[in-house]
Amino acid sequence: MTTRQIHVINHPMVQHKLTIMREKGTKTGEFRSLLREISMLLGYEVMRDVPMTTRRIETPVAQMDAPVMAGKDLAFISIMRAGQGILDGMLRLVPTATVGHIGLYRDPKTLVAVEYYFKVPKDIQDRDAIVLDPMLATGHSAVAALDRLKEAKPRSIKFVSLLCAPEGVEYFHEYHPDVPIYTASVDQKLNEKGYIIPGLGDAGDRLFGTA
Ligand code: URA
Repeated sequence: MTTRQIHVINHPMVQHKLTIMREKGTKTGEFRSLLREISMLLGYEVMRDVPMTTRRIETPVAQMDAPVMAGKDLAFISIMRAGQGILDGMLRLVPTATVGHIGLYRDPKTLVAVEYYFKVPKDIQDRDAIVLDPMLATGHSAVAALDRLKEAKPRSIKFVSLLCAPEGVEYFHEYHPDVPIYTASVDQKLNEKGYIIPGLGDAGDRLFGTA
């Protein structure tokens, strides 16, 4: 098994959109649209190896067995609340995927992740899970979410995060070396409050306009 994989998607369109998201003057509506668009571009890479099947179709001139994604085998797992922003884009790519939610908040003093909600599709054992969380900062929430998700035994797990801190990637792979990470950037560092530097600030606040 290949371990500790991190895929940095540095396509110009992803990087350009990310730069606009990072700027502090970018307003909620635009931030939300950009996150949806970037998520679709990240999703393109994340789902590169999803299982395929064929469907018999008729074009205007012939019949063929045409390739289609076996989309019912996917489950998107959104880590609330900022994961909702990525979920939006992913569901546009695969509208038939099922969706799970894991609710975690960061204790502001200890930065430790505390769970308040967990619900994943009943047939998760037959599905490939794609876990969504825009910011891999300390890695505490991601590790806690994956600890819980693994108890439900999905067929496979991938993790999608718009931005990562190197410290978070290290912590994540210490506990879950088998889970590949897909991201648009590994930034410089974490600050003393657990924010990614240079980052984009609080992703949830920027996405929902709650600052
Ligand atoms: N969560 C965020 O929303 N932003 C960070 O920089 C770190 C964690």
